[in-house]
Amino acid sequence: MGIRYNEEKRLFQLDTEHTTYIIGLTEEGYTGHVYYGKRLQGMGSGYPLRTDEEPYTPSVRKGAKCSFLDKFPMEYPTGGIGDYRESCLDIRNETGSIGSELFYHSHEIRKGKEKLDGLPASFGTEEEVETLKLICEDPVLHIKAVLAYSVFETRDIITRSVQLINEGSELLRLEKVYSACLDMDNEDFEMLSLRGSWARERQIERGRIRFGKQRMSSLRGESSHQEHPFIALATPETTQETGNVYAMHFVYSGNFIAQAELSQHDQVRMTMGIHEGDFCWQLKPGDVFQAPEVVMTFSDQGLGKMTRTFHDFYRNHLIRSPYLYKKRPILINNWEATYFNFDTEKLLSIAREAKKDGIEMLVMDDGWFGKRNSDTCSLGDWTVNEEKLPGGIPELVRQVNEIGLAFGIWFEPEMISPDSDLYRAHPDWAIQIPGREGTLSRSQYVLDLSREEVREYAYESVARILRSAPIAYVKWDMNRQLSDMGSSCLPADRQGELFHRYMLGVYELQERLVTEFPDLLLENCSGGGARFDPGMLYYSPQIWCSDDTDAIERLRIQEGTALLYPLSTIGAHVSDCPNHTVGRTTPFATRGHVALAGTFGYELDITKISEEDRKQIPGQVELCHKYQNLIQTGDYYRIASWTMEKPYDCWEVAAKDGSEAMVTYVQVLSTANGHSRRIRLKGLADTAIYRLEDTEERYTGEELMLLGFPVKELWGDYQSRLFHFVKEAE
Ligand code: GLA
Repeated sequence: MGIRYNEEKRLFQLDTEHTTYIIGLTEEGYTGHVYYGKRLQGMGSGYPLRTDEEPYTPSVRKGAKCSFLDKFPMEYPTGGIGDYRESCLDIRNETGSIGSELFYHSHEIRKGKEKLDGLPASFGTEEEVETLKLICEDPVLHIKAVLAYSVFETRDIITRSVQLINEGSELLRLEKVYSACLDMDNEDFEMLSLRGSWARERQIERGRIRFGKQRMSSLRGESSHQEHPFIALATPETTQETGNVYAMHFVYSGNFIAQAELSQHDQVRMTMGIHEGDFCWQLKPGDVFQAPEVVMTFSDQGLGKMTRTFHDFYRNHLIRSPYLYKKRPILINNWEATYFNFDTEKLLSIAREAKKDGIEMLVMDDGWFGKRNSDTCSLGDWTVNEEKLPGGIPELVRQVNEIGLAFGIWFEPEMISPDSDLYRAHPDWAIQIPGREGTLSRSQYVLDLSREEVREYAYESVARILRSAPIAYVKWDMNRQLSDMGSSCLPADRQGELFHRYMLGVYELQERLVTEFPDLLLENCSGGGARFDPGMLYYSPQIWCSDDTDAIERLRIQEGTALLYPLSTIGAHVSDCPNHTVGRTTPFATRGHVALAGTFGYELDITKISEEDRKQIPGQVELCHKYQNLIQTGDYYRIASWTMEKPYDCWEVAAKDGSEAMVTYVQVLSTANGHSRRIRLKGLADTAIYRLEDTEERYTGEELMLLGFPVKELWGDYQSRLFHFVKEAE
């Protein structure tokens, strides 16, 4: 049983296989946070709430209520009434004041988990998940807050979300609604986050938390290249295998906050939710607001355990696509091959050569519609450019299929170019502030997806093409961040809803798409990996990770991404050299090995690359077939992260039953007078015998895991090796 309520002690205990979470109610009905951490065998007590210590609770000492609120570990703190730490809920009433206070009213414990209206969220059967709903009320505002905790017992995951219902007669303005809070005593925590930039996404950052607030956030209208909707607090010296880690990840793709606040009594408040900047939601009497979901986990075995918990959770309870474990077609994308300069003949020549080497799908990227020969026009005009593609999409698809390849296509449905027929007909469809010239980014504006007719147009632009031909794959791109927030359809006092309404619009479109085209393989993308987040994973089983395809740059980008996301979700391609983003030349084999730690595909002009590189493609294709299942289903272990002092990178994917393991080793820089390096494997069976494929070398599992496997210094920079260990005997 995952959730228990001890009525006498007024405690809720949420147990997963290895963790326990305890919520306690005070006499007044405040919901307090008692404990999160390693699994308790018995039932816990409520003493960590410290209600028997100064300043006591308000019912004992009303005169010190403010001091109480300012240190009490609150499950869902509200703003304006004397808890000066970050609040999760700020509500402005009709008098214009901000202030709310929530008291426990009742609770429900149910098997299963409900969908979140209009939002992506994790799911599970009645056997897999149990949900606690704490129903709290503000007696003055007459607002009901339902704090939902879903416990995935075997996954060590608790998800949280909040629903607000206006049961009064006043118009309320929600100025801030976060989804989760975790109040803990500080354990000298370090904060772990992912930061980046275009082409440099998700670099792992770690540092001791300081007094005050440290936040990762986005006000860019998407989860962003720059900061990721994730935060973890880890005890000092946490490694891949040791240390306590508390992590939160947001199932949302828009503006967010992920914050740690260290306050006066050495307490830490960890919060996550929609960013309150430019957010104000009107809640009329009877209205309901649903906040997105936070996925929470605790690991007492370091970062590696946290990583594998997220991977397993997302594979089993978030990604819905039938492609999750299915063989994904090995694709070749023409973006880096041709950019905008292509026509049917060029695409078919790529397809013909690709077919010879075993590649399975051609993806036509940007530039096939309107008069788009550069990135300055035509977004919104989703009619094929017949000068480039005579006969249109159906004819092109027919010819590509005839060669023996499946066909995929690129769209950017959320955007509008000022130089487009669409903009000339509907300038008000762009998000903009009346009277102010909109700020362009990549020469484009963003469509106002809060409007139904705009959503309808965007949807039909894509669906019409998909209905016209057998198209197997869509790359759904989004190449600018939002600014100039103004919608011509929202009244002045509701403009603060636009960011969130935009996101709800995107989700609605993608939901429609995967419903109408259930067999479509959808890959989300945003100027590379700016919308690589759990929200998008609900719709697409893979997301383009970064526009930087350089194998060495990709090491850190993919390491940061794989900290949370299964390798099967990470869009990764082999591209040409010198690399188009950084100008580096790396061996073709290394590019292949790095792309194998993702979805694998090509992004180059196969008709032009060197003979030497070309010859390696069939072998790489074979490797992809061989390892795809292991990569999709296995356990991922980070063995080494390269630095200038230790210039090699290494990761492993081990089958869950310990029957095989694939180890990828990349020597970023070579060292003079180098010595062999010992790689300690993980996830093997101690006493089983493993053979290193293509050799007669045999090792026991414990030898490989404890003594390690020696890798000799390789000749030259950017060299890589793939080792495959296969179990021969128990
Ligand atoms: C974005 C994508 C690229 C490519 C271009 C096309 O930058 O990340 O892969 O599709 O757009 O304009």
